[in-house]
Amino acid sequence: MTRINRDVIEEVRTSANIVDVVGSYVALRKRGKNYLGLCPFHSEKEPSFTVSNEKQIFHCFGCGASGSVFDFVMRTRNLTFAEAVSELANRFGIPLPQEKETAQAKKIREMAERLRQINGMAAEYFSRNLLRSSGEIARKYLQTRGIGEETIQDFQLGYAPKSWDGLKRFLTREKVDLKVAVQAGMLVPKSGGDSYDRFRNRLMFPIKDMRGRTVGFGGRALDDSMPKYLNSPETLIFHKGRTLYGLATAREACRRNNETLVVEGYFDLLALYNRSIHQVVAPLGTALTLHHVRMLSRLAPQAVLVFDGDDAGMQAALRSLEFFLREKLPVRFLPLPEGMDPDDFINKEGKEPFMQLLSEAKPLMEVFLEQSLSNYDGSVEGRLKVVRAVTPMLRLVDSPVAQEGYLRVLDRRLGVSEEALRAELALTSIRRPSAAASHKREQKPGLPEWEEGIIRILVNYPQWIPTLEENSALESFQNKDWAEVGRLLVKYYQEGGKLNLSGLLMDVQNEQIRNLISSWSLETSPWREEDAHARLREYFAGISSSRRRLQDDLKRLKEKIQAAERSRDEKLMAELLAELQAKKAALLAGEVNDEANLSKGEMV
Ligand code: CTP
Ligand code: MN
Repeated sequence: MTRINRDVIEEVRTSANIVDVVGSYVALRKRGKNYLGLCPFHSEKEPSFTVSNEKQIFHCFGCGASGSVFDFVMRTRNLTFAEAVSELANRFGIPLPQEKETAQAKKIREMAERLRQINGMAAEYFSRNLLRSSGEIARKYLQTRGIGEETIQDFQLGYAPKSWDGLKRFLTREKVDLKVAVQAGMLVPKSGGDSYDRFRNRLMFPIKDMRGRTVGFGGRALDDSMPKYLNSPETLIFHKGRTLYGLATAREACRRNNETLVVEGYFDLLALYNRSIHQVVAPLGTALTLHHVRMLSRLAPQAVLVFDGDDAGMQAALRSLEFFLREKLPVRFLPLPEGMDPDDFINKEGKEPFMQLLSEAKPLMEVFLEQSLSNYDGSVEGRLKVVRAVTPMLRLVDSPVAQEGYLRVLDRRLGVSEEALRAELALTSIRRPSAAASHKREQKPGLPEWEEGIIRILVNYPQWIPTLEENSALESFQNKDWAEVGRLLVKYYQEGGKLNLSGLLMDVQNEQIRNLISSWSLETSPWREEDAHARLREYFAGISSSRRRLQDDLKRLKEKIQAAERSRDEKLMAELLAELQAKKAALLAGEVNDEANLSKGEMV
């Protein structure tokens, strides 16, 4: 995606008044300084969706959705940031300076367009073939699987005839360069430069991107040829790890239902769709990737995995747990009866029992704990094994309340105290400062609350933002996210002498934090100005004394270590070094500037 220059973004932001933009989508009533309407992101009867003209942001007090005018357009229209900017620029007549495209980029873009065009032509060809007499075998097959006419059309299902060159001849007639059709994956090259149809005698599922453009195909064999399912190869526009089947048809329904169902197969998806369950997507025969989970989090605020009711289905679900935790996307698991996939189940039992199971689906994390506990044999090693298996996941649970709940379950079932479990959690974080953990900011329990407190006051009283710098407070922030917010507050204040909230919200990566900030900015400050100021001073005083305390601690430790070194007391040394590790880890809570501090020399 082309990068858009900041000035243009600012210009679009100032022209695209959020009240107008949201107002053309949601009915808004003026209430005090703000506007109020029904939230488009979750279903509600009482309006809690608030739009602030003054601050140019929206915030839903029901579901927590929040952001700038760009976020609103991105979410309602499922666009990327750049697309949202250009959409608004068009609407408000702001010329977008086209950044010069390199010759290479141009070639790639044009090739991608040609590949999409060929895929689209093939989809039409297959779909026409389904209606011809040769397509009867596929029509019959769809009938036996209970797929109705409407579903066939919505998915543009088709039939690839039993021929080595049906599509090839069609593309030739349409003057398509066959070499490009090979690159699109529709034809397979033979030695000598010739080529033949990849898909023959198969039921065809066009795979479409978010905007409904065909990027590849899946094809199911209608006889006993192998493989049962054949997909397009990876191409410039088709990556299995970055594509989900059903995106275009699911989009609206996911938003309405606040939830996306994930199934494993094409027919599972069609079977649900066919019974008016439209909020479904499916990976393309691969395991869910982190990228898939990111896509899911753009579709709806929660997901449910509806996988086969066998051990493999459960294992596949559990393997994706880590991605959901990392993306902070709540996910549940719907266990189908052994040996059934969603298609089997809904056709055999009907929609109501399916909906019933759906309502009973348990959080995947709970399923994971149960599964880990089910192997527990009562021995000490067994206990350790369970604890070691679950801690990496528990560390990723970002709600302290949920985390505590899970620890309690383990406490009860294993007889390991919550305290010991917490120690184990801290240990894993020292043992494995994994690459993932260092770029993912995790909020760990035990962070000083003052960081949040300071930001909350400054959002309400931006005139004190400069005091952040005067007290060098940011250097002591332990949580990277809050530190980032602090730096942005300072930056925007220096640039414009005020709080640029919509700019700030755009820059903050962590969604939870974005939501907190926007809700604070819309509250009437919980403190009167003097009280808030006094509290801010207290926070700053607290920071400098805790900084001092920590420095003192480390200094004393350092002296002890030197003494132990001199007396060659290795046991004591080991203990002290471990203590140092622990202190570092405490400091590291938000993988802070500890390395920076500790390596400044005066300490260790
Ligand atoms: N799949 C694939 N390649 C294969 C087999 C399966 O890509 N050789 C993918 C397809 O996306 C398919 C999904 O995995 O939809 C599930 O496959 P499978 O478990 O074999 O589904 P079945 O339920 O057996 O398929 P069907 O209902 O069509 O008989
Ligand atoms: Mn099936």
